[in-house]
Amino acid sequence: MASEVSTALRFILNDEDVVLTHLRATETLLDFLRLNKGLRGSKEGCAEGDCGACTVLVGRLRGDRLVYETINACIAFVGSLHGTHVVTVEHLSPVNGPLHPVQQAMVDYHGSQCGFCTPGIVMSLYGLWMEEPQPGTAAIERALQGNLCRCTGYAPILCAARAISSYSQVEADPLVAERQAMRAQLRALNGPTVDIGEGKDRLIVPANVDDLAEIYAANPEATLVSGATDVGLWVTKFMRDIGPMIHIGHLEELHRIEEGQGALTLGAGVTYTEATGAIARHFPQLSELWDRIGGAQVRNAGTIGANVANGSPIGDTPPPLIVLGAHVVLRKGLERREVRLRDFFVAYGKQDRQPGEFVEKIIVPYLPVGERLACYKITKRRDEDISALCGAFRIFVNDDGDVGMVRIAFGGMAATPKRAKAVEAALLGRPWNSATVDAAMGAFGEDYQPISDMRASAQYRLLTAQNLLRRFYLESIGEGERLARAVA
Ligand code: FES
Ligand code: FES
Repeated sequence: MASEVSTALRFILNDEDVVLTHLRATETLLDFLRLNKGLRGSKEGCAEGDCGACTVLVGRLRGDRLVYETINACIAFVGSLHGTHVVTVEHLSPVNGPLHPVQQAMVDYHGSQCGFCTPGIVMSLYGLWMEEPQPGTAAIERALQGNLCRCTGYAPILCAARAISSYSQVEADPLVAERQAMRAQLRALNGPTVDIGEGKDRLIVPANVDDLAEIYAANPEATLVSGATDVGLWVTKFMRDIGPMIHIGHLEELHRIEEGQGALTLGAGVTYTEATGAIARHFPQLSELWDRIGGAQVRNAGTIGANVANGSPIGDTPPPLIVLGAHVVLRKGLERREVRLRDFFVAYGKQDRQPGEFVEKIIVPYLPVGERLACYKITKRRDEDISALCGAFRIFVNDDGDVGMVRIAFGGMAATPKRAKAVEAALLGRPWNSATVDAAMGAFGEDYQPISDMRASAQYRLLTAQNLLRRFYLESIGEGERLARAVA
């Protein structure tokens, strides 16, 4: 264990210093705000990160920068907030004082009817405005992907979002103007490892990755928590007592992104938002998928490492990472080993990970020139939805027009994310044409026996997987664009 240990968890809530020496490990930020602090502006709609009624801003140090991002308070654990600045809707304007520009715009453009979603929408627009004072429609829609409004309709909210800068300049906003002072305050909070509570309520915030490795090896029964976009639901929906907990989302080393000569290396704590630029530069074929992972609040908290580590059969990133030949670097204490991602998923809920071992980074080789890559996420609604199935395709067609290499992997089709080896075998070495694709479609039944559940029936899954292969083929010969234009 690290030599220096603090027994207090500390963060700043609006303009108040919060110091906690006792805490239920599973206490969510939303409960803490509403029940402990009486801050009831943040609402609870779904308690699973889907509706955005609980949206707050969290300011975190990222190197020399202090970055404010939206998160869903309903699935964030208080323990994950050590060393941060949490901003709730109550902080935007003084009681009986003038409204904040975001709030005034929402009033003037009639952006609220029943008002239940409004605090969350205000916080999402506030976060956007600080980053993009003159946002376009696409940026506004992306910022609101995770905010559900059932009664107003989004047109007035979009109008409000476009008008915010006409009320005030963003540079005058306190969170922008006072960023330097807040940075210094937060730096002072971040120090030694925090270790509070006992048994199920023990909560540890390691100071660095070496401490994490040592602590986790000694306490392998603990739950590692990063953005909690999945683990949070184990508590709010399944009432599981998952303490003791080790929080890792703040660890700088795990947020490293290395764009090397032959591969992109992502630290396990890199969030979807942080990876967006590198993904667009090296794997632009995945950008659409990236924009459809949760809403902004989920992408700001969720990490690629956790998406891989928890082995969900419907995780968004494993199918493309498998076809790209990604490796995971696992660490236990001082020992490290590397495993091919396709071998990492052993069975439902079981990964090739020893007790006390954690995913430290993921290495993703670049796509060689001349190869084609595509990934399709199939959901019931476009935004903020979990995959019914997600298919990734990679192919190299040689000069003779034959399939020289092919990798296909699916999520949502089996108990783990899984390669379609029979389909690959039916394509390999054959001419890349419609007849080959038709013949290979029949092989999906050998690779997958999907189940029926609330997201899709087994029959739908199998048929859709087959049709995605056809779509991949049509797009590869330029027919996809023609068909899309015809539909439009
Ligand atoms: Fe719905 Fe938090 S209450 S996202
Ligand atoms: Fe009623 Fe949005 S104003 S849900």
